[in-house]
Amino acid sequence: KLIVAASCAIAMMAGNVQAREWNEIRIAFDVPYEPFEYKTPEGELTGFEVELAEAVCAELRADCEFVIQAWDGMIPGLLARKFDAIMSSMSITPERAEHVLFSEPYYNTPGGWFGREDFNVDVTDMDAMQGKIVGVQRGTTMDTFVTNEMSDVVTIKRYTTAEDMVLDLEGQRLDVVFVDYPVGEQTVLSREGFKEVGEPVKLGEGVGVAMRPRDRDLAGKINAALNKLKNDGTYDAIMNKYFSY
Ligand code: ARG
Repeated sequence: KLIVAASCAIAMMAGNVQAREWNEIRIAFDVPYEPFEYKTPEGELTGFEVELAEAVCAELRADCEFVIQAWDGMIPGLLARKFDAIMSSMSITPERAEHVLFSEPYYNTPGGWFGREDFNVDVTDMDAMQGKIVGVQRGTTMDTFVTNEMSDVVTIKRYTTAEDMVLDLEGQRLDVVFVDYPVGEQTVLSREGFKEVGEPVKLGEGVGVAMRPRDRDLAGKINAALNKLKNDGTYDAIMNKYFSY
């Protein structure tokens, strides 16, 4: 027992002093969250962040493993070492930064309001919003916003996946959804009979890669790779593929 304990202690000490090579990086996505991460009809994982992750891994000459993780288990999964990094349109907020280490932001996304064409209520008018049903993905910055600002006025429906939320909007079980703007644009406005129903709201300080706080070396590598991709045009090329603006 003593020998085991001693060798564990030595292994732990070695782990602390030896920088990890990061030849393998496991990155988590919540799918589908179009255009950030989703599957093609053929079942292939794709999207802005998936391609950006591939480019980062190529830059770092690392083998990357992509892990599908439901949004509500993202930070717990990271801390439990199920994967090493989150690239799931995770907005940088002070609350999250208490638990995870963020890279530099690589994207900016406000929250957007989307509803049916006949929805003619100003979403900032709390009298008019009385009794309306608002959909959000659980645990997102949009959830926090409506919970803080509107829970006395509206009924909030929280969804595990953004996909189910959009289906409920389509099935008229919701009046509006509040979702990352590009996701609403590409999954709601692409359907007949829907429109944007309010001004986008800035939430968080951009979107970053989230990592465990102790993995500063990984964060350093990822920041350097992102910088390189921004400077050599790769970032813009991927961006232009998935965003029309
Ligand atoms: N940007 C929002 C947030 O950080 C929503 C992200 C949801 N991402 C996802 N892949 N479902 O809370």
